[in-house]
Amino acid sequence: MSPAHIQINDAVDRVVTITISRPEKLNALNAQTLGEIEAAFEGVATDSRVGAVILTGAGPKSFVAGADIEGLAKASPIGAREIALHGQRVFRRIETCGKPVIAAVNGFALGGGLELAMACTVRVASTNAKLGQPEVKLGIVPGFGGTQRLPLLVGRGRAMEMLLTGEPITATEAYRIGLVNHVVEPEQLLDKAKEIALKMLANAPVALALTMEAVDVGLACGLEQGLQFEATAFGLSAATEDKREGTQAFLEKRKAKFSGK
Ligand code: COA
Repeated sequence: MSPAHIQINDAVDRVVTITISRPEKLNALNAQTLGEIEAAFEGVATDSRVGAVILTGAGPKSFVAGADIEGLAKASPIGAREIALHGQRVFRRIETCGKPVIAAVNGFALGGGLELAMACTVRVASTNAKLGQPEVKLGIVPGFGGTQRLPLLVGRGRAMEMLLTGEPITATEAYRIGLVNHVVEPEQLLDKAKEIALKMLANAPVALALTMEAVDVGLACGLEQGLQFEATAFGLSAATEDKREGTQAFLEKRKAKFSGK
């Protein structure tokens, strides 16, 4: 059965575009939408035809305007915890799918929307984007990783200001503080995301996956274990056909042709 709230385009140049599509609710994430995103990334992780993902929102106005407030309003404390754990699991699946995921932030990225963008590998925003963690305005705490990933991206002080005021920031400000990697006009957004994806995909797939994993391990476990993992990943990458091809191509002054093996 095809998903109701996301669209998955066939891969072009090994880049698949996943669009969250509940435009009448500004693409807010209810349980069904989260489940569909999770299934989509399960597919991304296991489909060798897919090298990278662009994740965006339907319509000109919103990437994702947050977790679904209607569902949250009705949730019991235990139910709310389940909602948070579900969202966290889905976003972690995105983060650990082994392939670069480019968030194309095409408007509001609020609450769960910003948390979703932060679980992606890099972020490109359109000039009309507004990014924020307004949960405290609703009497709740961010539940899909905002208290953890925001300080990692922008530092403790800036994260605290965003988390505690709940005020959104503009795309320009998000760029200034390192929350997004690029800001472009709305009509250039998907092209810019694709350009970044293709630059990454010109490189060896196993090296990309291990590099992302090494960054993740280091951030989670600290420098010592991060360095140990890095050395092991370095050794593992040296066992690939792509390492032979990459180094040989350099020595022969030609472009490498990677096979992902
Ligand atoms: N959950 C559920 N529905 C949402 C939603 C959310 N997070 N964000 C927007 N919607 C719905 C609105 O209720 C409205 O539905 P309706 O037409 O059935 O009433 C529809 O999307 C359009 O939103 P609207 O508020 O009318 O658009 P706007 O342009 O005036 O304002 C926002 C846009 C993003 C500023 C505003 O919708 C908003 O503040 N949303 C909530 C953001 C938030 O707090 N997110 C964190 C949740 S934890």
